[in-house]
Amino acid sequence: MVTSSPTLHPDIDEVLLTQEAIAARVAQLGREIAAQYAGKRPLVVGTLKGAVVFMADLVRAMEPTPEGLQLEFVRASSYGAGTVSSGKVALSGTLAPADVEGRHVLLVEDIVDSGRTAVALLEHFKAMGAASVALVSLLSKPARRTVPCEPDFLCFEVEDKFVVGYGLDFDEQYRSLPYVGVLRPACYSPAE
Ligand code: PRP
Repeated sequence: MVTSSPTLHPDIDEVLLTQEAIAARVAQLGREIAAQYAGKRPLVVGTLKGAVVFMADLVRAMEPTPEGLQLEFVRASSYGAGTVSSGKVALSGTLAPADVEGRHVLLVEDIVDSGRTAVALLEHFKAMGAASVALVSLLSKPARRTVPCEPDFLCFEVEDKFVVGYGLDFDEQYRSLPYVGVLRPACYSPAE
């Protein structure tokens, strides 16, 4: 197979994780997760929208595919007055308690930042009667944590830089970039 480097988007300062590095790590983690979930009929739940790209690759890397694996999605958003988050997380989606009860839930995140979203979702699935809950994340920024949250499975730990691509956005842009890159500050802070 011939691979070619994608053209660097003009708004990207630096590629932090190449397409090849991501693919290699996702393949490795996929096999590890598949081994741990063999015979457990995992319910793989992705958070919209950021986790979609990672989840699509991860579930195909879960080899051999655990029997009974199913996919679901939830939407989670922090809300609060003005620009300051209240720290509360609103959840929406079509998952009913009957879908979750007794299932081994694997929550898929693109990034764990403060940790609030992942913690709220894991608590939510526990309350719905999941047999077990675990968190897999593409990225983790430990420097930003405000609540204790350690992914059970993690692809990459990253510094506190504004990263986009491979599902991660700024203002709904850049999600389709095949790599994770650092966004130019001029793109998110108005010129002074
Ligand atoms: C992002 C990301 C995580 C969450 C992480 O979602 O996808 O779900 O924030 O942040 P936290 O650890 O501080 O809770 P966002 O609300 O930006 O929505 P998106 O996935 O649609 O981009």
